[in-house]
Amino acid sequence: MKKIVILGGGGFIGGHLGKRLKADGHYVRICDIKKHEYFEHSEICDEFIVGDLTDPVVVKLVIEDGIDEVYQLAADMGGALYIFTGEHDADVMHNSATINLNVARECVVKNVGKVFYSSSACMYPEHNQLDPNNPNCEESSAYPANPDSEYGWEKLFSERLFLAYNRNYNLNVRIARFHNIFGPQGTWNGGKEKSPAAMCRKVAEENGGGEIEVWGNGQQTRSFLYIDECIEAVLRLMNSEFKEPVNIGSEEMVSINELAQMAIDISQKELSIKNLEGEEFYKKYGFKCPLGVKGRNSHNKLYRENIGWEVSQPLRTGMEQTYTWISEQVLKSKETAFTI
Ligand code: NAD
Ligand code: GDD
Repeated sequence: MKKIVILGGGGFIGGHLGKRLKADGHYVRICDIKKHEYFEHSEICDEFIVGDLTDPVVVKLVIEDGIDEVYQLAADMGGALYIFTGEHDADVMHNSATINLNVARECVVKNVGKVFYSSSACMYPEHNQLDPNNPNCEESSAYPANPDSEYGWEKLFSERLFLAYNRNYNLNVRIARFHNIFGPQGTWNGGKEKSPAAMCRKVAEENGGGEIEVWGNGQQTRSFLYIDECIEAVLRLMNSEFKEPVNIGSEEMVSINELAQMAIDISQKELSIKNLEGEEFYKKYGFKCPLGVKGRNSHNKLYRENIGWEVSQPLRTGMEQTYTWISEQVLKSKETAFTI
């Protein structure tokens, strides 16, 4: 039984990770600035500490002597609307970088066995993601750096921070670059949701016969990895000896309109897609349409060769599970609104 700390375990990936590690028989301590919205704490951990990890005193308390593994998932993050409008840039950079600075140092001070850091595909250069049908997100393409968001620049900085602690202080690190992870118990409304959850919510909210709004021309591409696969890939990486940053994502690339159509097909509702972009979008919302890169797909050769595992299920299977859960949330929120 390992003693494990999950930072950011009140969030989507951290909650699922806690659930898996606890079920595997480990002792799990979570710290997050907020409680988990969808999991009972007894399901995902043995101890839940509500605390702000930008405060070094909190970090000292949470990472004590004798911890085998720390999973650093805490970050100021969200989907396109949160990271591409530029509205949150200073907070994203300040909060996430401060957490990482505190955590990396404390892991050395407390002699933590192994540390996982969650980076993002958003650190890849924009110039390699201009062609929706042929993006390059190979790990070796990271430099010369040119991420298209401050969120991506912070991730790149923090990757380098953990790697520097590895070189100078022997910190035993594992670093993953996540490519759009989705699934139940993730953010599905409020402005931080990513496109898979947004598509499921928009479809679930419609009765049929209408249309759902999709930002941009819908031809921009992405790949999406289901949460259970992500957790499996993280644990396999942690159990490997591979210390360089590596992609964790799916190689099943789809356009955003294909993703939207998939959600519609799963619902079996009669709905059409309304693409909103440019001036039309600006007129409606008062800011530029948040699009991000034109194309992105995970490139899994490095993971495959060094850790030896493949994504096992198609996007559609995960989208079916996600649509079912989000439909339930939409229904619950309507019932709550009715009772109030
Ligand atoms: P999430 O927002 O659900 O979880 C992050 C958690 O960090 C939240 O619960 C939040 O409250 C917590 N947090 C933020 N600031 C904090 C602070 N000051 N003190 C304590 N806790 C704080 O996001 P997620 O999808 O679970 O992502 C986990 C990690 O993976 C993040 O670092 C994110 O940047 C990275 N990532 C996620 C994706 C994805 O598609 N989900 C893609 C790339 C990278
Ligand atoms: N969120 C959202 N909501 N996106 C939409 C919508 C909608 O209703 N309609 C269309 N889109 C488009 C966005 O404009 C963008 O072009 C594309 O769908 C993908 O958006 P997201 O899923 O929100 O984000 P992303 O893939 O650009 O970036 C996400 O993944 C990264 C890792 O790959 C973010 O979650 C990042 O934080 C993360 O690091």
